[in-house]
Amino acid sequence: MRKTNDSVDVGQDKIASVIKKELNEIVTYYDEKIALHGESPLGVDWNGSESQLLRFEQLSKLMSGQTAFSIADLGCGYGALNTYLKENFKGVKYYGYDISSNMLNSARKLHGDPATAKFIESSALLENVDFTVASGIFNVRQTNSSAKWREHIITTLDNINQYSKKGFAFNCLTTFSDAPKMKAHLYYANPCFFFEYCKNNYSRNVALLHDYELYEFTIIVRK
Ligand SMILES: C[S@@+](CC[C@H](N)C(=O)[O-])C[C@H]1O[C@@H](n2cnc3c(N)ncnc32)[C@H](O)[C@@H]1O
Repeated sequence: MRKTNDSVDVGQDKIASVIKKELNEIVTYYDEKIALHGESPLGVDWNGSESQLLRFEQLSKLMSGQTAFSIADLGCGYGALNTYLKENFKGVKYYGYDISSNMLNSARKLHGDPATAKFIESSALLENVDFTVASGIFNVRQTNSSAKWREHIITTLDNINQYSKKGFAFNCLTTFSDAPKMKAHLYYANPCFFFEYCKNNYSRNVALLHDYELYEFTIIVRK
């Protein structure tokens, strides 16, 4: 299994800041979105609450039937997944990570209880959890090249794999999108490449979900 050394171990109560160089433009993009639209799906650049919820339903198949688990939400935005998890699972200890301080300010305001939810400014996981989900963090690449962005995704997945004891799930926009609708600042991933990468490097148990009505796919890795 592939491991990385670029993550930093910190104690449970420390707030760390780990943001990679290529993410500076992405921070500005999301800082502006939440400042403009507030704590709402539009504020995290989704079209609406229906698609945001559909993504949570796909990703949380990872934890189906589980109770009393810890979970990292890498790219948590204002923490909408925390609300979804509290409504659908029991005994959740939630760690929201994000690179945008505006997002984290909103998240801390909305989810005040540090006993069940903690928010951390970082692009890398910093402590072990049972599960990790990442929704929407690989979509906006701005001026980063495709090659650089794919390497960024792989480095991020390696970090997630290292810190997720039971499994993880993430989504990406798909190369199986209608060409006229594709945009230059977004990254469209080849689902077959990432399925194979996860099988070869992380676990024998990998699911590729590409059967829901969005131009994206979800990969679930179970250990
Ligand atoms: C499309 S929004 C989705 C927010 C949330 N996951 C949701 O579905 O409501 C993507 C979020 O990921 C954050 N983000 C992007 N790249 C990231 C990275 N590499 N590490 C941590 N956060 C990231 C952005 O700041 C933004 O808040």
